[in-house]
Order: sequence, then C-alpha cells, then structure tokens
Amino acid sequence: MPAITNINHIAIVVDDMEKALTFWHDTLGITLHELREVPAEASQVAFLPLAGAEIELVRPTSADSGLAKYLAKRGPGMHHVCLEVDDIEAMLTQLKNRGARLINETPRTAADGKRYAFIHPESTGGVLVELYQV
Ligand code: CO
Repeated sequence: MPAITNINHIAIVVDDMEKALTFWHDTLGITLHELREVPAEASQVAFLPLAGAEIELVRPTSADSGLAKYLAKRGPGMHHVCLEVDDIEAMLTQLKNRGARLINETPRTAADGKRYAFIHPESTGGVLVELYQV
C-alpha cells in the first residue's frame, strides 16, 4: 500500500514577490534559500525551507498559465499543500479506485527529476493537493 510520508511544502500564490517576502522573510524571519525562475511553469518561486517542510511563494510570470488564472480569479493566498508519497503511481491508482478526481492521471516529472501530480480540490474539501515522490 502506498503511504503519505511527509508534508513537503505549502505553496502560496503571490502577485508581488517583493511584498510577499517583506512578510515571510523580513517580518516573520524565515530564511530565503533561493529565488528561482521556473520557465517550465511560467513562474518565479521563492523557497523558504523550515525543518521538515518548506514555504514556497509562487508568482506567475505569464498571464495565461493556470496559476495566473487562479491568481486573477481568487487573488493572492493559499495555493496548494504538497504531500510526499513513497510510491506515486500506486497512490494515483489507489485514489482513482477510491473515486478521487485527479488533475494529473499520471505523474509529471519536474526539472529536478521529482515526480508529481495534483489531486482536484473537488475531492479534497477545497484544497489543491500535490503529491511528490522525492
Ligand atoms: Co508545489
């Protein structure tokens, strides 16, 4: 049986990265590990790691991505929670068998080789959930 093993990150969508970092870095005092352009996702991401998980501030860099549409519709705020799973294929199969609606039926591969997939908020009580096999 596949298992969820950890929270990997919590992603927050922002419209103004400098302003967001004023709170998350300057005011709250979390170390900014990296501010990275992610062209494949048409976004800029600030990584603020903590002991066991990470806060990610995500800003869309094009107007037509899913993230940009989300931001335009709902404004800045919580975007998704990412959970680590030991076997993403088996978990996606289990989710399908249990009636969950998936955004990605098969895992996608990130630039760094991590495999990920999203579960639709309709099946989770309104929270977009990302699965990561690290
Ligand atoms: Co994520």
